[in-house]
Amino acid sequence: MSFSVEKVRADFPVLAREVNGQPLAYLDSAASAQKPNAVIDAEADLYRHGYAAVHRGIHTLSAEATQRMENVRAQAAKFLNARLPEEIVFVRGTTEGINLVANSWGKSQLRAGDNLVISTMEHHANIVPWQMLCERAGAELRVLPVNQDGTLKMEALPGLLDEQTRLVAITHVSNVLGTENPIQEIISAAHAVGAKVLIDGAQAVMHHAVDVQALDCDFYVFSGHKLYGPTGIGILYVKEAILQAMPPWEGGGSMIAQVSLTEGTTYAAAPWRFEAGTPNTAGIIGLGAAMSYVQAIGLEEIGDYERSLMRYALEQLKNVPDLTVYGPDSRLGVIAFNLGKHHAYDVGSFLDNYGIAVRTGHHCAMPLMHFYGVPAMCRASLAMYNTEEEVDRLVAGLIRIHRLLG
Ligand SMILES: Cc1ncc(COP(=O)(O)O)c(C=O)c1O
Repeated sequence: MSFSVEKVRADFPVLAREVNGQPLAYLDSAASAQKPNAVIDAEADLYRHGYAAVHRGIHTLSAEATQRMENVRAQAAKFLNARLPEEIVFVRGTTEGINLVANSWGKSQLRAGDNLVISTMEHHANIVPWQMLCERAGAELRVLPVNQDGTLKMEALPGLLDEQTRLVAITHVSNVLGTENPIQEIISAAHAVGAKVLIDGAQAVMHHAVDVQALDCDFYVFSGHKLYGPTGIGILYVKEAILQAMPPWEGGGSMIAQVSLTEGTTYAAAPWRFEAGTPNTAGIIGLGAAMSYVQAIGLEEIGDYERSLMRYALEQLKNVPDLTVYGPDSRLGVIAFNLGKHHAYDVGSFLDNYGIAVRTGHHCAMPLMHFYGVPAMCRASLAMYNTEEEVDRLVAGLIRIHRLLG
């Protein structure tokens, strides 16, 4: 099937609206993507025709909702090419997935003297939980540096890994630079010293297919809302043997086998052991619809289109005077930049006046801002529904701002 951006855009009702008297150019999908009708309708359909609390009821609606939720678990396993649906845990998003791993696997495995490796380009969600864990355990947090061009300093990796390394937690694609990291190489190097590997896939799964078996990573995590799905739902993949051995981290309903006030509590099998409380059922159904949606278009087709749009954007942005673009030429999804010495907030506000939505700020990556010596950057995201015309408007807007502000 050939990719048609017009056809894709027609599936996203919000893209038809105006902002500040201009057609919306939504270039903030890396923060959160817009939702197609398929996702909106799937959630609404559940609430209209089949909503009930899952896992608890004997009645038909509850059984149906439970089945639909478990179908999405199987679908997510296929989406990541996991071996089993039982390797999939529903979480609120990438942040909760990483905190789950830190508080369950990490807390039970990490000892004083151990170390974990992350990189300078991590999102705070893949930094702070590890800092908290290391502080508690008396472990060391080691950092793989980045090069000026926004790639990882891979030659530094062997020096950071030793037999005390328990985990390497690394982003698949940088949310600021768009760098696609050589995770296969990192996974092999980490496994060679007996360390586990967590991949933060928040900025990867919408751009190409991911195969966790081929990668051989131990943990892979992503958020639904960046994959055109609902907010408040995400997927944590954990290799079966590791997940089955992990202790629960949140206690409550649905994660137990038996609860006794005198004899204590026994827990459900994984993955349900990690899903305490009433889940975000509509979010799960919506995420299922989002995965179906991108797969029906074809992740390869999406990737081809986005790559060509990215090449076009990087070329056109060369026409903007005084523009600093951060990150490597070969990148996925995002272009971070600053215009002269102007603060990103000022540039972003002007662009908003022109109907162009970009992200401004530290992008939850303060260590990376520090590395580049700036407090903030603007970031334009290019998703499958963005167009060359929107890129042209961004470029024209930036040229105009440069003229106005000097
Ligand atoms: C690379 C990366 N990791 C983690 C996160 C956190 O995702 P969430 O806020 O959906 O939990 C984000 C979101 O911006 C991200 O881009």
